[in-house]
Amino acid sequence: MKKMISIIGSGYVGVVTGACLAKLGNKVILIDIDEEKVKLINSGVATINEKGLSELLKCGNIEASSDYRRVAESEVIILCVGTHSEEDNSVCLQHLINATEQVSRVLNDKNDYYVIIVKSTVPPGTTEELIIPILQRSGKKAGREFGVCMSPEFLSEGNAVYDFMHPARVIIGEYDTRSGDMCYGLFQDFDVPILRTDLKTAEMIKLASNAFLANKISFINEIGNICKVLGIATRDVARGMGFDNRIGSKFLNAGIGFGGSCLPKDLKMLIDKAREIGYEPKILEATWNLNEKQALKPVSLLEKYVTLKNATIGILGLAFKPGTDDIRGSRAIEIVQVLLKEGALVKAYDPMAMENFSRLFPSVEYVSGEEALNSDAALIITEWEEFENLNYSGKVIIDGRGISKAKEARIYETVC
Ligand code: UDX
Repeated sequence: MKKMISIIGSGYVGVVTGACLAKLGNKVILIDIDEEKVKLINSGVATINEKGLSELLKCGNIEASSDYRRVAESEVIILCVGTHSEEDNSVCLQHLINATEQVSRVLNDKNDYYVIIVKSTVPPGTTEELIIPILQRSGKKAGREFGVCMSPEFLSEGNAVYDFMHPARVIIGEYDTRSGDMCYGLFQDFDVPILRTDLKTAEMIKLASNAFLANKISFINEIGNICKVLGIATRDVARGMGFDNRIGSKFLNAGIGFGGSCLPKDLKMLIDKAREIGYEPKILEATWNLNEKQALKPVSLLEKYVTLKNATIGILGLAFKPGTDDIRGSRAIEIVQVLLKEGALVKAYDPMAMENFSRLFPSVEYVSGEEALNSDAALIITEWEEFENLNYSGKVIIDGRGISKAKEARIYETVC
């Protein structure tokens, strides 16, 4: 049975989740305090760059509103408010707390049973210890007047609509069976494993999954750092390992490490949670520390060939990964910061992310790929496919991602 659903927060996860659930036939209201976003969504314009999203926003089953009172129309309310990192990388749940308070106030007057589903990524225990108490302030009780679930998302940017429609698994953390049954109803048509757990197990599955992926990347980067000294091709080692299906070939691309809005934040969240309970998470910390060091390796390699002061350095790739204009957590940020600080002139190219990057770094010159290569040396930061079509001959290239064509350069070095 199709449902009336409110999605709280029309950020990355919210807008994709809402659009996909609408496409599946549910009636969806996206609630966001940002009037500008609301206007755009209502005119069918995607607020993020994601394949297939605009089409879904025009399916007729979805609308956006800044009025929290609209939540009362729904039987399912999904909290998709983003959690962000503080200066010290610790997670801040304040937006989620504020949104939950608003929802709770509105639902105070609702008489029918409804379910709140937490989709925001949170430390284990948050739904039980923080979200439910806020929802119960009104005097209503979880399990009696309303249900609660925690169902994490596993959407990969650039592929999020596809990932939603073709998940590897659905995880439903449930307060009780009645809550879980409502959430299960949304996903029952997917022909994939659906695992029902308690709330904090679901929260942990999300963090452990992303920490594992982060670990896999840092692991291959560590192997790569050793291979580089020994004169062994890391890429071939990774290929050789990947044929073993216990290991798998994905997430073994060695280079300058992981960025983005999820892997670093989720890994840090888990590290902090472990420390909070008095456990020293050595593997997770090593994963984090290696990733921190890996980011600036291209700059030290570069210094073997050029003096940075007054040198012109080309940057190929600014997005945190190919297929997106998102620069959150991009390794390009740290690298460009250092280059500018050392007095280099930076010329950068990215097929999608130049506009976003120019807001942070207006002093960088934004040029074509060919023009970025027309520098004293160039760094490859993101593995866009089109970088395989550039002419590298005669150039000095430090490759942070493994672009085969770049091997034709006069001087070519990989990070690991
Ligand atoms: C990630 C998870 O994959 C997704 O399941 C989760 O829900 C959200 O976080 P995303 O942040 O979109 O998705 O990007 P992902 O494809 O995981 O890449 C993250 C970072 O790791 C990128 O900077 C990428 O360049 C880097 N990476 C990835 C590597 O350095 N090597 C690899 O082999 C794979």
